[in-house]
Amino acid sequence: MKFGISAATILLTATVSATRSPSFHLSRNLASSTAAFVPHINIHGASSLTKRNMSSTSTPIACPTIPLRDGTPHPSIGFGTYKVGFIPASASSAVASTFKEEPQRTASECVADALSCGYRFLECAEFYGNEAEVGKAIKQSGIDRKDLFLCSKVWTTTIEQGEEAIRARLDQTLKELGTDYIDLYLIHWPVPGKHVEAYKTLEKLVREGKIRNIGVSNYAVEDYKELIEGGITMKPVVNQIEINPFLYRRNTIDFFQNEGVVLQSYRSLRDGKAMDHPLLAKIGASHSKTPAQILGRWCIQHGFVYMPKSVKVERMKENAQVFDFELTSEEMAELDALTTPEALTTFEELYRKCVNRDTTKDGTMEGVKMDITID
Ligand SMILES: NC(=O)c1ccc[n+]([C@@H]2O[C@H](COP(=O)([O-])OP(=O)(O)OC[C@H]3O[C@@H](n4cnc5c(N)ncnc54)[C@H](OP(=O)(O)O)[C@@H]3O)[C@@H](O)[C@H]2O)c1
Repeated sequence: MKFGISAATILLTATVSATRSPSFHLSRNLASSTAAFVPHINIHGASSLTKRNMSSTSTPIACPTIPLRDGTPHPSIGFGTYKVGFIPASASSAVASTFKEEPQRTASECVADALSCGYRFLECAEFYGNEAEVGKAIKQSGIDRKDLFLCSKVWTTTIEQGEEAIRARLDQTLKELGTDYIDLYLIHWPVPGKHVEAYKTLEKLVREGKIRNIGVSNYAVEDYKELIEGGITMKPVVNQIEINPFLYRRNTIDFFQNEGVVLQSYRSLRDGKAMDHPLLAKIGASHSKTPAQILGRWCIQHGFVYMPKSVKVERMKENAQVFDFELTSEEMAELDALTTPEALTTFEELYRKCVNRDTTKDGTMEGVKMDITID
């Protein structure tokens, strides 16, 4: 049995390895029926936590898993919790003002819905400021801990402060999520001069049993090499970076996949800002799928972990329905070609700005690598 999915619910046989071209074998009836794929979703009108013990009986999304270095099966789809119920102070003001305009649901309500929709991998972070709310939803769902895959990340401020701060933060995360171990814990950004030591602290915490696997996020090839040369003993199992057809950095992706590092794709949906792109509409029409589902499927077919975020239950359902169709190699190539030189420049600027974000070096280029692999 794979990760919390009973044999009876596995309607899809798929093999996803940490290589470019996972092969999928869709059963004939499944390929013709999206509705058959995400079974027993009982979410209509359900937004109050008091109604919710339904999650314990909800059926997990029958997704393929991707093996980490030690063989741990990593679910190929998860629920992203950034800007769910809370916007961190240093998030962009434009987004924050949009957030204020719309009536917001709490993170515990949204996560409860995601669990009811069958998501079992929750993508969390210290920075997102909502782990206590995520923990509340987990507790009220009644889902067994062993059936969940919880990932969190330690933020730059804490990384800069060093070992004791990192230890205290992990304890806080465990307390808030209501668990005594985390499946995966990541360095959120490669804070210059600090991230290697922080990673070594995570290694100790693995040995102490609080973390099952460790990895990194927003690491360039050069950050990874610095880590390896810094004398670590446990190679990162994942690198969580922005990946979508509009930011498809082939050399970087090839490098990490060749190193056996699984890539978790964030902003897989391009933050919701590319849904009217004509190519997505064209490919979507030929598969009777939405633009979001085309983006999700592209991710899955490349072997990346897909972790869409939505506060809307209908979109949570929609985003999960990416395992019942296949993009052709021509469609994949068309999508692969959407990344422009301007997008790579924007990426580079963002990297330089973010590695020191919220640290005492915020706003400076102190220690920032100016010559990283961009593409
Ligand atoms: N490591 C890092 O530095 C980092 C950075 C960013 C994100 N992440 C992680 O990756 C996750 C996903 O990234 P993200 O949240 O930035 O962006 P995303 O998942 O690409 O996009 C989220 C946006 O798309 C909208 N959306 C969702 N489903 C949709 C659909 N079916 N149709 C149209 N619009 C849709 C959402 O709006 P509604 O909510 O209104 O539906 C939201 O505005 C995060 O939640 C977080 O866990 C990590």
